[in-house]
Amino acid sequence: MANKAKVAIFISGRGSNMAALLYASFLPGAAYEVVLVAANDPEAEGLALASGEGISTFALSHKGMPREQHDEAMEQAARDAGADYIVLAGYMRILTDGFATRWEGRMLNIHPSLLPKYPGLDTHQRAIDAGDSHGGVSVHLVTPELDAGQVLGQMKVSIRESETADTLAERVRFAEHQLYPRVVSEYVGRENDPDFLLGKVRELALALPQTHERESHGSPGWRAGSEKSGKYFAYFNDQHHGTEHVAVLVKTGSMDELLDLVEAQPQAYFKPAYYGASGWIGVILNRPGLDWDHVADWLERSWRSVAPKSAAKLHDAADQF
Ligand code: GRF
Repeated sequence: MANKAKVAIFISGRGSNMAALLYASFLPGAAYEVVLVAANDPEAEGLALASGEGISTFALSHKGMPREQHDEAMEQAARDAGADYIVLAGYMRILTDGFATRWEGRMLNIHPSLLPKYPGLDTHQRAIDAGDSHGGVSVHLVTPELDAGQVLGQMKVSIRESETADTLAERVRFAEHQLYPRVVSEYVGRENDPDFLLGKVRELALALPQTHERESHGSPGWRAGSEKSGKYFAYFNDQHHGTEHVAVLVKTGSMDELLDLVEAQPQAYFKPAYYGASGWIGVILNRPGLDWDHVADWLERSWRSVAPKSAAKLHDAADQF
């Protein structure tokens, strides 16, 4: 598969979830590859398993180190490995807000309860004590607040007669090993899913004032101005004319600018067939680590070049608040 997302996995101990994620990444058609396994304990068992499979590892004990400094070193290791995502798998550290914020939307965690129930520790005992019929596991996005980010997937595990926290934990782990690779694959795979990408572009384009959507030669496009006299400022382009790109076409200022951008950043831009001749550039969307703020900036700039002056003025005024 083109464009595999690069994933760094952080562990603290046994690393059975890491192993499940790693072996799933070896399956044909996997959406991600593991570029690093990092631990805050140099003795973490999972490190040996990873390096035995030829995966780079990094270990740095947190003992005696300020939290910021340890987080920074771990983050740097992930960046050096080229990671697009950090996947926490039994990483027993509370992250600094800055670290969590910098990776927002690109950091996942697995938690052994059916969130929002039982964030924190002792999840299995708490579920048993509460008389719940099920425990389970959740995969969620990491935000500065502990175990509180958007839940991406869950699996229930039934609680039986005379269950103990240990017996329940053992079965929950089986569920974890099924759920985590699946959710990670789906989440990172959205980057290649044209429907997901179209939805994002549509949302950004229609958030600009006086815009509407109109199909052009079979592709969605967005116009600024009235239904009658509006002008196109963006077209969605899904693997047109033999390219493997899913892209949004927006207007550049000049042919020189277009050619310079394509030459300097061929992973991010291309000159589209037909449209390229009139200064439209393709901004490639199906690539890991795409910055959506950057796409939004392009859309706004392109919109500005065709929007009625009154709409642009109003938009500027609104920006000041
Ligand atoms: C798992 O139960 C996971 O839900 C929790 O920590 C445990 C890690 O186990 N966050 P392992 O190291 O993956 O075997």
